Amino acid sequence: MKLKHQLNISFITLMFIILGLAAYVFYSLLLNMLIEDQFKELRLKGQAFVNYAKGQNDYLFDEELNRLTKVPEQAGKIEVLLVNMNDRQLMFSSLPSDVTSTFLNKLQYEPPRVLRGVWNTGQGKYVVETFRVRMNKQKLALVLATPLTGIKDLQWDIAKKLFLILAFGGILALILSTIITRRLVTPLSQVNKALKKITKRQFDDIEKVKAAGEIGEVARSVSQMSGELKQYINTQKHFFQNASHELKSPLMTIRGYAEGIKDGVFSGQEAQDGLNLIINESDRMKSLVTEMVLLAKLETDENIFHFKQVSVKEVMNEAIERLMPLINEKQKKINIHDGLGDKASDLVQADNDKLMQAFINILSNALRYAKDTINITYLTDKNNIKVEIVDDGPGISHDVLPYIFHRFIKGDKGQSGLGLAISRAIVEGCNGEIHACNQEKGGAVFTISFAKNK
Ligand SMILES: Nc1ncnc2c1ncn2[C@@H]1O[C@H](COP(=O)(O)OP(=O)(O)OP(=O)(O)O)[C@@H](O)[C@H]1O
Ligand SMILES: [Mg+2]
Repeated sequence: MKLKHQLNISFITLMFIILGLAAYVFYSLLLNMLIEDQFKELRLKGQAFVNYAKGQNDYLFDEELNRLTKVPEQAGKIEVLLVNMNDRQLMFSSLPSDVTSTFLNKLQYEPPRVLRGVWNTGQGKYVVETFRVRMNKQKLALVLATPLTGIKDLQWDIAKKLFLILAFGGILALILSTIITRRLVTPLSQVNKALKKITKRQFDDIEKVKAAGEIGEVARSVSQMSGELKQYINTQKHFFQNASHELKSPLMTIRGYAEGIKDGVFSGQEAQDGLNLIINESDRMKSLVTEMVLLAKLETDENIFHFKQVSVKEVMNEAIERLMPLINEKQKKINIHDGLGDKASDLVQADNDKLMQAFINILSNALRYAKDTINITYLTDKNNIKVEIVDDGPGISHDVLPYIFHRFIKGDKGQSGLGLAISRAIVEGCNGEIHACNQEKGGAVFTISFAKNK
């Protein structure tokens, strides 16, 4: 069953139970309340009559007694009975004769004291209140009675109004529940639709879901997830396209020369050159595959990092040492500027060998592009330790700069385009940050920063 219907049915059932219970409790309490009210009314009237009678010498009450029976429209009707208790003689009755005799009987056997209650007369029930009236030496009993049927009619009248209000409230709650469930369920089914499209990889057909609160958060998470998944799939696609392209071209060269040598097209020095080329291309492929495997591991295997406290300066010195043959061959100068001072610590949590690899990749690029000099500067602020590697070359070309850390992105004089992607994976894996930009006067700037060890 659809969630919308489930919610509506649960709400309606709950509402019926609550309203039903409320109506039942109210209806049963209402009669008691009305009876109590009638008792009060009878007491007031009776007491007023008792006080009035005290001042009279003779029995001249009929008009006064008749007045007692006249009550406002909404109250229960009042019947009056007056009995002389000395001789049990009936003096006045507004009740029908058979009911009067039942009342007289009751008074006959009951002691002459104040009686009250709901009396069953055989001709219906009455709410009764009795009073002792003293006039001269005579003891009179005044009985005021309201038929229960009248009170029940009143109860039913009030209950009808109450049921009408409850029914109106119920309909209103039902409309409200339908609106609320629709507002809840519609975005949920939209999110569901979006998820189905994501499983089919139809990322561009996904519509934006408008919703507030938790459902809105889920919708935002789904849209974020779809964006990331789309980007991931695209990156994977490009990676395979680029990787196959990068691997195919050396393979074609190798195959071309190998066939040429085998078929005798190349001979002598040409064959020698061809063989050298085959060796060079094989080496290039080997290092390409090694870099690809390393990059894949860096991005997927968290356990590849072996963290310890390392000195950024020492790691950089090791990297420079490893590159010394290349530095000498290219006749480039490396200047180091230590902005940390002697006292400031340059210790960070990182993987020593991998961080050195990241520095080597950046430095070897700088060696390729620098005119004469590479400047390495160590800097620090309150929270970070930074290393800037700046060369005096032409700078990073503008079309490459925004994607420089992506895989297989390379510019003029580029090689495989994996070095900086590896550097970024390493630096970020060690919880650092890496940025690239150009100096105004030309020359590339690479900044690597780590949070200080605290
Ligand atoms: N110091 C620099 N000056 C100018 N351009 C640079 C510099 N460093 C990198 N680049 C540009 O960024 C591109 C990507 O560099 P990256 O190191 O990722 O790849 P690569 O050097 O081409 O190949 P490899 O995988 O062998 O390192 C380079 O091809 C080059 O165009
Ligand atoms: Mg490189």
